[in-house]
Amino acid sequence: MPAQKSEFEKAVYEGGFRVLLTKELIAMRIDELGQQITRDYRGLEPIIIGVLNGAFIFMADLIRRIEIDVEVDFIKISSYGDAKMTSGQVVMLKDINAEIAGRHVLLVEDIVDTGLSIEFLRRKFTALNPASLKYVTFLFKPDSVKSDIRIDYVGFEIPSEFVVGYGLDHKQILRNLPAVYIMD
Ligand code: PRP
Repeated sequence: MPAQKSEFEKAVYEGGFRVLLTKELIAMRIDELGQQITRDYRGLEPIIIGVLNGAFIFMADLIRRIEIDVEVDFIKISSYGDAKMTSGQVVMLKDINAEIAGRHVLLVEDIVDTGLSIEFLRRKFTALNPASLKYVTFLFKPDSVKSDIRIDYVGFEIPSEFVVGYGLDHKQILRNLPAVYIMD
């Protein structure tokens, strides 16, 4: 019996999903962000905190484009579960281990959609008295965001569509797609 087609195969080989950002475009933009962050943080030895799960691929590529000393840590939060709509509640599943007081903190998100998660993170990290707190997100949805937080570094502004790939999931799969796709 032939194996059932995976969602990955449907997306990549069968044109099932529309490509929004190619891997070449993603790589070019991350190069630019890395250069910008290198310039802005020279001499500051920032701590770069990835927001799991979604940010792990972007974070891994981004830090390899940053040419100064950095520390890394991770925090894990969730608000979507397996749904396409936010639950409205952010749950922290893993806290950071690093000492934050007096440090220059750069939070790395895969996407700012409604802004609920980044608001949660702002409250949490502000209370830890960092020397500075800035945000970088791979994707930003200007038409969906309800928060007024200024995101310091934005990879791409995208339309309010459900996207998968390059770290972003649907029901926990498709994070390993090398490009970003719109899932209708
Ligand atoms: C996603 C994403 C962001 C958040 C953005 O997390 O990684 O953290 O949603 O959406 P918002 O701006 O509407 O809050 P999710 O809860 O899906 O967890 P995951 O990263 O493990 O996929």
